[in-house]
Amino acid sequence: MGLLDGKNVVITGGASGIGLETSKLFVSEGATVHILDLPGANLDAAASVVASTGGSTNAADVTNREQVDAAVAVATAGGRAIDIVIANAGISSPASPFEDYPLDGFERVLKVHVVGAFHTIQATLPHVPNGGSIIITSSVAGLVGTPQVAAYGTAKHAQIGLMRSLAADLAVRGIRVNTINPGPVANEFQTSFEERITGQQGGDANAIFDSMIPLGRHIPMTDIAQGMLYLAGPHSTNVTSTIFRIDGGMGG
Ligand SMILES: NC(=O)c1ccc[n+]([C@@H]2O[C@H](COP(=O)([O-])OP(=O)(O)OC[C@H]3O[C@@H](n4cnc5c(N)ncnc54)[C@H](O)[C@@H]3O)[C@@H](O)[C@H]2O)c1
Repeated sequence: MGLLDGKNVVITGGASGIGLETSKLFVSEGATVHILDLPGANLDAAASVVASTGGSTNAADVTNREQVDAAVAVATAGGRAIDIVIANAGISSPASPFEDYPLDGFERVLKVHVVGAFHTIQATLPHVPNGGSIIITSSVAGLVGTPQVAAYGTAKHAQIGLMRSLAADLAVRGIRVNTINPGPVANEFQTSFEERITGQQGGDANAIFDSMIPLGRHIPMTDIAQGMLYLAGPHSTNVTSTIFRIDGGMGG
C-alpha cells in the first residue's frame, strides 16, 4: 500500500529537478502523476517515470491558459478528479542591482511563478474534491530579502500571498493550500544561479552558499520531495496556510 494510492496528481515543472524527484516519489507511493512542462528532451524522458501508474506528460507553458487547460483535460479524462495540485514550475531571475534591474526580466519572472501558479490552480480547482491538497513551491527567497534578485524575491513572496488567500477561500471545502519553501537545493538550477551570483564555478560557488546556510549544506532534492509527500498525503490533513520551510535554517 502506498501513501498516495488512487490519488491523481498534477505537477508543473515536473520534468526536471524538484518536480521530477517529487514525481518519482509520488509514483512509488501509488499516485497517477500528470506532468506539465515546457516541451523538450526532459519532458520526453519524464514519460517513462509516470507511465507505470497511468500518468501523462504534457507540453504546456504555465503562462498560457489554453495550454494549461488542455493538459488539465488530459489529467481529468473519464471524469477523474485531481486530488493533489503542485504549482512548481519556475525560472531563475536576472541578477542585477535594482537601479539597472531589467523590467522585462522582472515581468517574466513574476509571470511564470505567480501568474503561472494562478493558471495552474484556477484551471485545476473545478476538479479538486473536498479534502484535496494544493502546494506551491515558493523558496527561502520568499521569506528573506536576497540582494540582486528582486524579481525572484518578489515572485517567491507573492506566491505566499497567493497561498494564504487561497487557503482562506478553500478551507470551507476542506481543501488545504500550503507553500513548500526550500533553501538552496543541490541541483543544476541552483548551481547555475550560484555561479552567476558569485562568479565562481561549480563546487566553489556551492561552498560559498554552504557557508550561508546554518546547517552548512545544500538540501538534497529527496528531502524536498518528502516534504511534498507530507503536504500531499494523509499525515497533514490539519495543515493549511503553512509555510513549510526545508531550508537548513536559512529563513531565520
Ligand atoms: N533549486 C533550488 O535551490 C530552489 C530553491 C527554492 C525554490 N526552488 C523552486 O523550486 C521550483 C523547481 O525548481 P528546480 O530547482 O527543480 O529547477 P528546474 O529548472 O530543475 O525545474 C523547473 C522546471 O520548471 C519548468 N518551467 C519553467 N518555466 C516554465 C513554464 N513557463 N511553463 C512550464 N514549465 C516551466 C522547467 O522547464 C523545469 O523543468 C521552482 O519554482 C524554483 O523557483 C528551487
